[in-house]
Order: sequence, then C-alpha cells, then structure tokens
Amino acid sequence: MTLNRTQIEALPASYQIEHIMVRPNIILAPMAGVTDSTFRRMILGMGGCGLVSTEMTNANSISPKALKRHHLLDFLPEERPLTMQLSGNEPEAVARAAATVEQLGADILDINCGCPSPKVTGGGHGASLLRDLPKLERVLRAVKQAVSIPVTLKFRAGWDEDSLNYLDTAKIAEACGIAAIALHPRTREQRYTGHADWSRIAAVKQAVSIPVIGSGDVRDAHDALERLHTAGVDGVMIGRAAMSNPWIFLQISQLRRGGPVFQPTPADKCDLLLRYIEMCSHDMPEQLALNKLKQLIGQLALGLPYSAEMRANVQRSREVSTARQIISDYFAPYAAQADLPCAPHPELVAA
Ligand SMILES: Cc1cc2nc3c(=O)[nH]c(=O)nc-3n(C[C@H](O)[C@H](O)[C@H](O)COP(=O)(O)O)c2cc1C
Repeated sequence: MTLNRTQIEALPASYQIEHIMVRPNIILAPMAGVTDSTFRRMILGMGGCGLVSTEMTNANSISPKALKRHHLLDFLPEERPLTMQLSGNEPEAVARAAATVEQLGADILDINCGCPSPKVTGGGHGASLLRDLPKLERVLRAVKQAVSIPVTLKFRAGWDEDSLNYLDTAKIAEACGIAAIALHPRTREQRYTGHADWSRIAAVKQAVSIPVIGSGDVRDAHDALERLHTAGVDGVMIGRAAMSNPWIFLQISQLRRGGPVFQPTPADKCDLLLRYIEMCSHDMPEQLALNKLKQLIGQLALGLPYSAEMRANVQRSREVSTARQIISDYFAPYAAQADLPCAPHPELVAA
C-alpha cells in the first residue's frame, strides 16, 4: 500500500512518555550485542531517530562491581533521551536494579518481557514472564515504586499460539502505571520466524490509552509509514533494518516531508564503515572493535556486487588495520564515481 500525501501528513510525528517528548516517533529497537553506545551514536548522528535504548541487561548484574566488568549501560549525554532496558523476574531484585539505573542517569526504564533466548527464559526472565502474568504484575508494581522516571514495557504476543495474551499483558501494564508499551507481535515460540502480525499491535492500540509502539519486520521507509497508518500506533521501532540500512531513519523523515529520499551509494557505505571503525576503535579494545565491524559489514555490505570475498576477508581479519585496508581496497574503484547514485561495481561493468 502506498500512502498519499494527505495520509502521510495525517500521521503522528511524536508521542509523550510522561514528560518526555519522543520526536520523531521512529525509534531504534534494543538489540543485545548490537545497540551499544557506539552503535546508538552512529544511528543518532544520521538523523531521524527519536529514541534509543541500551541492550537488555540482566537486573542481577547491576551491582557497582559488575558494572565495572560489563559496559552495557555506558552512554554519552548526546544519546538522550535514553532508555535503559532490564530483564529480571524477582520483584525486589528488579526494583533494586531499577533504582540503580535511575541513578546512572536513565531517562526511561524499560522492562524486557520478550527475549526468547533459552538462556534468558531459562532463568525466568524475558518472554518467560508471559507465562506468569501475576508475577509480571508484581515486577512492574515493584519497579514503579522504586523509581520516578517513566517505566515502559516491551513484550511479545504470548509464549505460543495457544497462549496469546498480549491484550491482557497490555492492560496489566497500563493498570500498573506503565507509561508506554512496545509489542513485537511474534510469540516466544516463533522467535524470529514467520512474520510479525501487526493486527495484534493494532488491537493493543485499541485496548489501552497509553502510547503503543509497534516492532517487527519494518524493512524500509514505506513500511514504517504504512505501519503508522494501518496499525494507528504512536510510534514504530526499527531493529534489524538499522543494521542493513542505518539510513532508514533519515529516509523515513525525508519520505514524510515529501522531499527526495537519500539512497546511499557504495561510497557512502564505505564512509560509514570507516567512520564506524574509528568510533569503535576509540570506544573499545581492538578485538571488540573488530567484532563490531564484522557484525555491521555482514549486514551493510550484503548485496554489494562482488562483495562476498571482501566480506569473507574482513571476517578473517585479526587486526582493525587489516580490515580497514580490505574495505578501502574494495571500495576504492567507487570513490571516483561517488556522485553517481549506486554506481555498479567496475567488475560488474566489465563482465
Ligand atoms: C540481534 C537481536 C538482539 C535483540 N535484543 C533485544 C533486546 O536486548 N531487548 C529487546 O527488547 N528486544 C531485542 N530484540 C528484538 C528487537 O528489539 C525487535 O523487537 C525485533 O528484532 C523485531 O524487530 P525488527 O524486525 O525490526 O528487527 C533483539 C533482536 C535482535 C535481532
């Protein structure tokens, strides 16, 4: 479905999480192992993203000693407003962690009730809470009592197709004073298979009066606006597409304004990768920086002509300098044609 200008102009552009204005209402989904401070700043720097979140952090690991070992909650002021996401299932422990997160400077605290990983659900965290809504309610009430920042909830549609309880979960959240909710409408059983059924998100929007954010399978700018329109949600979250196309937030804002939509050339992708290497190298030890680059290039360079060998060579690199050279060499032929939109790789032209 392609929206016309009148429909686009009627779409909401912002929503409030209590006193916090989220504008634009297109937000980066939390992704464990991906959305660290460096990634978040890269996305924010490109424009069009109204809110970011830390990766999920186990509430039991929020002690001053543990925080020195892991850096999941590190952030810089330019990321504000910032959501920090916790997982847990013991009301008191999650409430204690919530208070610490507030002291650390979070603007919003999000509770994870959707992670499908057996490592997480095995401990009763994440989507496991969907099997025990009274417990989820105790967790939410305890957390609400412990902090004064807004608390939000991110959840799935249910444990499996036989136990869909997204409407109940949404209503419980609202009754507990949760400020906004985000639904990824797959079940835990589905993990990331099948498709995200946005009619479930639309049904939640009808059932509660707090802001509802939809998450799942938004692949491009058109998808995002169409979801806002058909599901009637307050905001849209973007996860995996932010890795394959970090410009998606910018493109959504351009599509909304009716102007030309930026289409990155290979030279733009090269610039972004090199910038990301610099940021990672500045922020973390070399091996971590290299791993982050490998993660991004695996998504960002997919589909670029003759890039399989380059991607494989980057994956084999042991040093950042080697990876940087491989990337620069691959993209060098494009540099001269940087003004051409998506110029074909010279080898492709020769073939
Ligand atoms: C690698 C990866 C890690 C994720 N980690 C988290 C997480 O830490 N917390 C969370 O609430 N959701 C997490 N998710 C789910 C996403 O936030 C999002 O709801 C889901 O990927 C669907 O959106 P998408 O199709 O735009 O990716 C993760 C997803 C992926 C792919």
